[in-house]
Amino acid sequence: YLVDKGNHRHFMEKEIYEQPEVMSHALSHYVDLADHVVKAEAMAIDFKPLRGLAISACGTAFLAGLIGKYWFERYARLPVEIDVASEFRYREMPLSPDQAALFISQSGETADTLASLRYCKDAGLKIGAIVNARESTIAREADAVFPILAGPEIGVASTKAFTCQLAVLASLAIAAGKARGVINDEEEKELVRHLAELPRIMSHVVNLIQPQMESLSRDLSKFKDVLYLGRGTSYPLALEGALKLKEISYIHAEGYAAGELKHGPIALIDENMPVIVIAPYDRFFEKTVSNMQEVAARGGRIIFVTDAKGAAASKLETMATIVLPDVAEIIAPMVFSLPIQLLAYHTAVFMGTDVDQPRNLAKSVTVE
Ligand code: G6P
Repeated sequence: YLVDKGNHRHFMEKEIYEQPEVMSHALSHYVDLADHVVKAEAMAIDFKPLRGLAISACGTAFLAGLIGKYWFERYARLPVEIDVASEFRYREMPLSPDQAALFISQSGETADTLASLRYCKDAGLKIGAIVNARESTIAREADAVFPILAGPEIGVASTKAFTCQLAVLASLAIAAGKARGVINDEEEKELVRHLAELPRIMSHVVNLIQPQMESLSRDLSKFKDVLYLGRGTSYPLALEGALKLKEISYIHAEGYAAGELKHGPIALIDENMPVIVIAPYDRFFEKTVSNMQEVAARGGRIIFVTDAKGAAASKLETMATIVLPDVAEIIAPMVFSLPIQLLAYHTAVFMGTDVDQPRNLAKSVTVE
């Protein structure tokens, strides 16, 4: 596998642009893109008899898992216990063999994630590993391996691995829903049909928003603090947006559940801390807009990341509004990852940081 930047300035940029292509590799492994059904590969764990699912990971992989939690609970009625691996392994949570455990790791070598895996294995749980590196320790020690097929990821800040992890988690949640009788054939077809649209939609969106993200990054680079807000699956995305921005631009950023705004971060709102609100026009939209009003009423600047319906429904004045196409709820987290990645990327480029090798960070953390 020859890895070079092609005609991109950084690996991170290349990896952002590769997403439509690797997404179709990842998806076609788990779902039939023509018949719109999940494949046997997505059924390597028998979800039917499970009482619960434990998920553990670190960093961006953990945030993918947090989105997965919403999906497993909603589409498969499967309760999910999730924590960062460094906490998970020491919590001494009660585990039983009628649960399965999923570990998510791009490298498959993260020490804390591996230790959590061994902890669950000792408790007799069936172990699934969602990994990019198929020859890794985590893959070897798992009972079932779910490759994300993203190809080598060089940029320290994860991009394509994140969206491929999401594609695999979504496929598994649909498979689990099917196995547990929560989703019928028709609903399965509908959900898989949406997943199948991802490569085309992501390729459209990445080109559509690129110029706006580049110019917006100049404005963003002037600030010292940024707050990201979201509800539902947009909440982990807010955490991921903040993580990405702080990792590579060194601007202090925090992600919050939009509903928690009034329990703390609202005290910080003024014209010096832009608030990036991630709000597709979904079941949570009206509630998120009311949080956005609370920001506006206190003189906060808003960067509104929404879709066509959302943009039409909100009358609030913003610093910028990023309008994505209207997409199905199950694919919104992958599509909305694109503005978040591009904004962090261009801000870092504009500020002149070492985008692919940010200070103090490692691609794979093999010590505790
Ligand atoms: C490091 C990397 C992150 C990554 C995390 C987990 O912190 O900088 O990009 O999300 O480790 O790595 P893993 O290989 O387990 O996904």
